[in-house]
Amino acid sequence: MQKVNEYLKENEGRFIAQLAEYIRFPSVSAQPQHKNDLQACAEWLRRHCEEIGLDAKLWPTTGNPILLARTPRSRTGRRPHFLVYGHYDVQPPEPFDLWKSPPFEPRIQGRSIFGRGASDNKGQHLAHMNAIEAYLKTGVELPCDVTFLIEGEEEVGSASLAAFAKQHRDQLGCDALVISDTGMPGLKQPALTYALRGIVSFEIKLLGPARDLHSGIFGGSVENPAMALCRLLGSLRDHRGRITIPGYYDDVVPLTRYERKELARLPFSQRAYQKLLGVRRLFGEAGFTPTEQRTARPTFEINGLTSGYQGEGSKTIVPAWAGAKITMRLVPRQKPEKIRQLVFQYMRRVCPPTVRMELTAGHGAEPYFVSPQGAKCQAALRALKQAFGCEPVLIREGGSLPIINELTKVLRTEALLLGLALPDDNAHSPNEKFDLDCFAKGMLMSAGLWPELAQASR
Ligand code: BES
Ligand code: MN
Repeated sequence: MQKVNEYLKENEGRFIAQLAEYIRFPSVSAQPQHKNDLQACAEWLRRHCEEIGLDAKLWPTTGNPILLARTPRSRTGRRPHFLVYGHYDVQPPEPFDLWKSPPFEPRIQGRSIFGRGASDNKGQHLAHMNAIEAYLKTGVELPCDVTFLIEGEEEVGSASLAAFAKQHRDQLGCDALVISDTGMPGLKQPALTYALRGIVSFEIKLLGPARDLHSGIFGGSVENPAMALCRLLGSLRDHRGRITIPGYYDDVVPLTRYERKELARLPFSQRAYQKLLGVRRLFGEAGFTPTEQRTARPTFEINGLTSGYQGEGSKTIVPAWAGAKITMRLVPRQKPEKIRQLVFQYMRRVCPPTVRMELTAGHGAEPYFVSPQGAKCQAALRALKQAFGCEPVLIREGGSLPIINELTKVLRTEALLLGLALPDDNAHSPNEKFDLDCFAKGMLMSAGLWPELAQASR
């Protein structure tokens, strides 16, 4: 074990350089023009896996390739097998002008590496690969088999992976799924995440006049689709932060008193939080703490809002249409399809007859919730504690991993969410970064995890 840790320490500089190389690929899955970049990124990853001693293969899909990379299998009997899931695709980098250095030209400053995808998710799964490399290159025997499953469509809903997992069930069958694609409250609070929110996405478009009209000549006599959209969307949430769509909360499991007490123990400073987010005041559903609001309550969010003239100066028109991209976060027992139908029905009912409405369904994923009590969770908590040198915390997270429920169901196994991202890592925002201490400690955690997990699985 000491040899493995020493290897990790000695090679830290190279690991950082390799992470930088990996970040250079603009693997933006939402944007079709980056299709080849995703392919090139996947090929880089496959080569990297081979260089560190894994058997690696890229599997084409109708979307982006899926990487499977396995440690050499021992010939002496069955060992426990763990699957490490991650994603090499990243969120769109826009708006470019807010980046202090270009999103795909990684920059190191202090103990941070900046770049789109640095923490979400390239740095996090690379930490695990580095730990495995350390075992393979030092000749210290791994107590288990490990397979990496790294996909390229997570940020757009993981559409190809469910079918892939079913097809490759034999190879993927494992004793646990290990995922580092969530967060931790701070360097002194390593965390195991036991709940994630689900998600439903859709787009709405309101169509008014056949073309943009002179707002002086015609304005006042026709509906303005942008105004109609603002009214419609604005009415979906009341001033106390509650979503007004009838039935929206019907299936929501209320937080237990025990859980609220536990969540309240996590360190939280309202002032520091406001400062981190750059807001003057917080806003959220009345009766819940910010931690509860962002992890255990459902939301309705406008992600993008478009209409009319956006160029410089003014242009006096009634726009022909207005549109919005929407996602809703779901909590245990809300069902994505049911919620989508509920929302679509409601929208159709309240849409004014002066516009035509188009609703387009997007991706969806169920919320995730487990009780973090099993032997493998305990093993993971020990590995976290050992590597970070302090007591880990159990947390809920507000983000979503669209494939997690599907994977645990198909493979009949449990997931261990051991996130390495910090709250100020700017995931999905300009100036995304990954903390190099999280990277280093993440590698140590991974190195210590395999013996712990193998032991717990026997
Ligand atoms: N790593 C995130 C999910 C995450 C982040 C979970 C922080 C918990 C804490 C992941 O890459 C992500 O962003 N997922 C998307 C999924 C969506 C596009 C279907 C999300 O949550 O927005
Ligand atoms: Mn993400």
